Amino acid sequence: MKRNIFQKQDDSEISKPVGPETVADESDKTTSVHVDSDKASDIINLVNISQVYTDHSPPNIVFKDFNLDIKDIKTRGQFITIMGKSGCGKSTLLRYISGLQEPTSGDVYIYGKKRTDRDRIPMVFQQYTSFEWKTVLQNVALPLILKGVSREEAHEKAMNMIEIVGLAGHENKWAKYPILSGGQLQRVAIARNLVVNPQILLMDEPFGALDTVTRKQIQVFLRSIFESAKIDPTVIFVTHSESEAVFLSTDIFILDSGPATVRHHFKIDLPQNRDDSIRYSTGFTDYVNKLGSLLEDLKKETNHR
Ligand SMILES: Nc1ncnc2c1ncn2[C@@H]1O[C@H](COP(=O)(O)OP(=O)(O)OP(=O)(O)O)[C@@H](O)[C@H]1O
Ligand SMILES: [Mg+2]
Repeated sequence: MKRNIFQKQDDSEISKPVGPETVADESDKTTSVHVDSDKASDIINLVNISQVYTDHSPPNIVFKDFNLDIKDIKTRGQFITIMGKSGCGKSTLLRYISGLQEPTSGDVYIYGKKRTDRDRIPMVFQQYTSFEWKTVLQNVALPLILKGVSREEAHEKAMNMIEIVGLAGHENKWAKYPILSGGQLQRVAIARNLVVNPQILLMDEPFGALDTVTRKQIQVFLRSIFESAKIDPTVIFVTHSESEAVFLSTDIFILDSGPATVRHHFKIDLPQNRDDSIRYSTGFTDYVNKLGSLLEDLKKETNHR
């Protein structure tokens, strides 16, 4: 019988490194999850992470001995979405990986090595983060210029990326609202982060401020650049939208809170090439409904603790 992707595994399988369809048990507060095949090597490891805030009594223990291993898939990108109740620690996890924050204790490894200040992992935020006093071209070229690439080469590469994100013709406009729309400004931010060809891209609710139609359009666009042969990063994405998560992801992790654990992890077994029509498929709506009910159950459970 085909196993339901949302089914819980036998308890004996929990807490040892296992395959892609791991579902962690609530009683297991030290959860270790491996994302994919044997061939792949680790891209990110969060090892025995703890985070305690003592500014209030009782202290807020956001993470306690938290572990997460993400394997690199060499030949293609992967789109890993982290979901969970507000305040459970999703942004904090991204900040650890990017280097914007250090955990109270524990280590972050990138490609098997402890992260250093030289490991700069780009991050796209919910708020538009373009430099308003620079043009689209100058914004996208900036990371290359900062790396010491010549102005000419930086502009050429930036123009390529501007075309990929569908902003050709807008390159000399100020990267500023309302000269560019919210969706266009987020594409500038995405282009600026992708221009250095990162192996890892972090995105923290990047489309949260967009209207529904623009949000769907930009999801299709992001999925299409992700599928393009030119770019194959591991994207770590945070969202509260079930349909956005299903549309974009190869993997979804759902975190519990207080302290955070990985409660569910499953693959989205939908075709690699996804356009708007997939939203009407039964497979898609099944994933969205089941994801919604898992999140709802978790919310009820934590509200009762
Ligand atoms: N500087 C800080 N001082 C005290 N507590 C903090 C600090 N930064 C984060 N926290 C706490 O850490 C927890 C996790 O925060 P985080 O921003 O990672 O949550 P989140 O899962 O991203 O939530 P949301 O979905 O609302 O964005 C929260 O309880 C928050 O109050
Ligand atoms: Mg957050």
